[in-house]
Amino acid sequence: MKHYLQFTDLSADEYAYLFQRADFIKDKFKAYEKHHPLIDRTLAMIFEKASTRTRVSFEAGMYQLGGSVVHLTTGDSQLGRAEPIEDSARVISRMVDLVMIRTFGQDKIERFAQYSRVPVINGLTNEFHPCQILADLFTFIEQRGNTADPLACLKGRVVAWVGDGNNMANTWLQAAELLGFTVHLSTPSGYEVDQAVAGLRSNESYKVFADPKQACKGADLVTTDVWTSMGFEAENEQRKQAFADWCVDAEMMAQAKPDALFMHCLPAHRGEEVEAEVIDGPQSVVWDEAENRMHVQKALMEYLVLGRQ
Ligand code: CP
Ligand code: NVA
Repeated sequence: MKHYLQFTDLSADEYAYLFQRADFIKDKFKAYEKHHPLIDRTLAMIFEKASTRTRVSFEAGMYQLGGSVVHLTTGDSQLGRAEPIEDSARVISRMVDLVMIRTFGQDKIERFAQYSRVPVINGLTNEFHPCQILADLFTFIEQRGNTADPLACLKGRVVAWVGDGNNMANTWLQAAELLGFTVHLSTPSGYEVDQAVAGLRSNESYKVFADPKQACKGADLVTTDVWTSMGFEAENEQRKQAFADWCVDAEMMAQAKPDALFMHCLPAHRGEEVEAEVIDGPQSVVWDEAENRMHVQKALMEYLVLGRQ
């Protein structure tokens, strides 16, 4: 049994399979063709933080695979009344075939997985957001028209990360190390990535830049995220000051390759981490990126429950 708790839980070979499978599953969806490999299977979704995309993409995706879902939040389950995570894992995993969790510390999802009888998927923790990077990479491959040889399309590319050294940044770095591309990282001082938290083997797949414009130089993809992630709301005002120069604007995009793409996991704050002219401009692929969450997660759920098809 496999869990998907961080990006490194799957191998490069498994990613190659998932990108091709997501392409196949997306084509079926677009053609209104039924694809029901998970008939009679159930996904439990546990949300301890807010969500729009993750909720809709997992829920719609599971129904489209022929299965069904159970939606739990901290407030409306015993999770919010201090039932131990180990007990919750033992009980929930006896009744469903797959569990998706969005929570705070990575340790919590790891403890759940340890006691779970079924695969567990990370739907975002403070440390990682692997399903998002899966969708982002698929979007890049799709945009470059290279789903037949997905990994070759990523090799040697440069991804510029402008902003917080957060769950998204950590996951980009894991992906770069595993799949052979480079991340140009620019974060305000005090908000750097912690290599140990990101779980990296070395510092060879990323370069650090004090100036976000320098980080964007020659990039194939420029990407950013909110200045204040969920769970860090108390730091909002302090972050607004620290991040003022880390707003992706047209000048930054002009440093990147002429055909560079812009991505954002969303939700976005126009005028903070990105200017409207960029996120709503011609290089932005944020709507495909959001939609692709569903297609890649359908491939992932099918794979975790049934293996390669
Ligand atoms: N990108 C993402 O995970 O969005 P939600 O928080 O809306 O799920
Ligand atoms: N870094 C953000 C991503 C939201 C999808 C957060 O954790 O809130």
